Amino acid sequence: MFSFTFFYPFLALIQSFLVSQESPRRHVIAPCGTARNVPRIAATEATPAEPSAAVQGATAPLVQALKSTAAHEVSCFHFPGHNRGNAAPSSLSNLIGMGAFMHDLPELPELDDLFYPKGVILDAQNRAAQLFGSSKTWFLVNGSTCGIQAAVMATCSPGDYLVIPRNCHISVISAMVLSGAVPKYIVPEYNSGWDIAGGVTSSQVDQALKELQKDGKKIGVVLVTSPTYHGICSNVRGIVDACHPLHIPVIVDEAHGAHFRFHDSFPSTAIEQGAELAVQSTHKVLSSLTQSSMLHMASDLVDADKVSQCLQLLQSSSPSYLLLSSLDAARAQLSENLKSFDEPVAMAFETREQLRLIPGISVLDLSTFVSDFPAIDPLRITVSATDLHLSGYEADDILAEEHQIVSELVGTMAVTFAVNLGTRQQDVEKLVQSAKHVSEKHSSTKESRFRKCHSPLDKFSVKLTPREAFFTNKKRVCIEDSIGEICGELICPYPPGIPVLIPGEVVTQESLSYLIHVRDQGMVISGAADAKLNSIMVWIMNHEASA
Ligand SMILES: Cc1ncc(COP(=O)(O)O)c(C=O)c1O
Repeated sequence: MFSFTFFYPFLALIQSFLVSQESPRRHVIAPCGTARNVPRIAATEATPAEPSAAVQGATAPLVQALKSTAAHEVSCFHFPGHNRGNAAPSSLSNLIGMGAFMHDLPELPELDDLFYPKGVILDAQNRAAQLFGSSKTWFLVNGSTCGIQAAVMATCSPGDYLVIPRNCHISVISAMVLSGAVPKYIVPEYNSGWDIAGGVTSSQVDQALKELQKDGKKIGVVLVTSPTYHGICSNVRGIVDACHPLHIPVIVDEAHGAHFRFHDSFPSTAIEQGAELAVQSTHKVLSSLTQSSMLHMASDLVDADKVSQCLQLLQSSSPSYLLLSSLDAARAQLSENLKSFDEPVAMAFETREQLRLIPGISVLDLSTFVSDFPAIDPLRITVSATDLHLSGYEADDILAEEHQIVSELVGTMAVTFAVNLGTRQQDVEKLVQSAKHVSEKHSSTKESRFRKCHSPLDKFSVKLTPREAFFTNKKRVCIEDSIGEICGELICPYPPGIPVLIPGEVVTQESLSYLIHVRDQGMVISGAADAKLNSIMVWIMNHEASA
């Protein structure tokens, strides 16, 4: 009889062949390590252990390992204290079932170690890398937030410049507080009719790099958000082409684009376009559990070991196996059916067309912007009813209260709906019918009860780095008295989580008017110590502090 040790390389070969057969039809997926840029294999990279009998041949090895570990009858003296469900609080177990508790296991030997993976986690991550076209993939249990923070920390030392769009997600700001990187902001195009910002262009990035070089600054990395929350994509290939001759790596916040590899009508992924690191919220459009994300890498410009170290620094030492296995399951779900997105895409296209025909309703598309952005995610449908004199909040309230339609994102002018693998035909039909109803009911409304806003992004003056501002002494001042002061906190309407005032920036009349405007419309202001925004924290100048 063959020993398994002898036989395993053949199994692995067959498995990698099968995986490449299940690759999305549009792409030829290179096996790990043979992608466009061969990654530097981390010195500490573990050699994959042989799969245990329990997971051999499994389509989702981590899910399978969790299942077989939980099935063992054992006397359990480990954490968590609900003891595999024996002491589960009934209020929750009645709601979500005992299964969640029985499989909520800690890092037992057979379940591998997230920070030194050599068994099922490594196997699951490798399969994800293969499917998503990266040379290395890390599973994340603290959302894309920790992926972005780790990517920035791994590429910027304190004082290095980080080129970023001014409308970056709040996690990029926290990454600067953690790393000590200094921002070089690029102001994205902003459409005040929609109160929506687009992406950034490669010429903006090029110009920012030239300015920094002229001033002799050290550039750590360029980070762009593509797609944005509204689905607007930047030309990542063009940005990469501006950065690589200078050996500057590119990180893409692709939190909203984890599905891009899985349909011909989706934009190209960041990794396909040559970015070194792409952070994807698998839990947003794909089907893993909330908080689970992936960080993909495809280059030798970034040190994989450093990324691993930063991830260990930022994540819990008790990662949830429910989250981790949900990433493996979401990957397997796509591998098993590469046509999964055919139906959602068809529904989304049809829905867009039908919404467009409704009087008073507009649908966001690329023509909204002057810049030549290459693509918009077809699954993100952003609608405005401002021609019916309805603000985004009013339209959203009507849809929720009168039609039981729950959107993904609401802004001052527009509402955004996310289509995904679970969207049903009846849901999109109801959305169209409800929009027609709103159009008929409000077509005679003459009076406009809302006003357009000015860009909250274009007038800013940075006096301290986010890190300096974070650690300085601060005082609370009444909102009216804050103009001209240096902001000491991050003030960010949520959603979409785009900061309007960043620690270290001068508080301006424009930023305050925008914040007060969105607050009055009901948007939650996060980050500020006073969520009602009657006061804000500002920097105490040194002479004041010592007085
Ligand atoms: C553009 C963008 N980047 C990053 C994030 C953070 O993602 P996560 O919630 O997975 O931490 C978000 C969250 O909404 C986002 O909108």
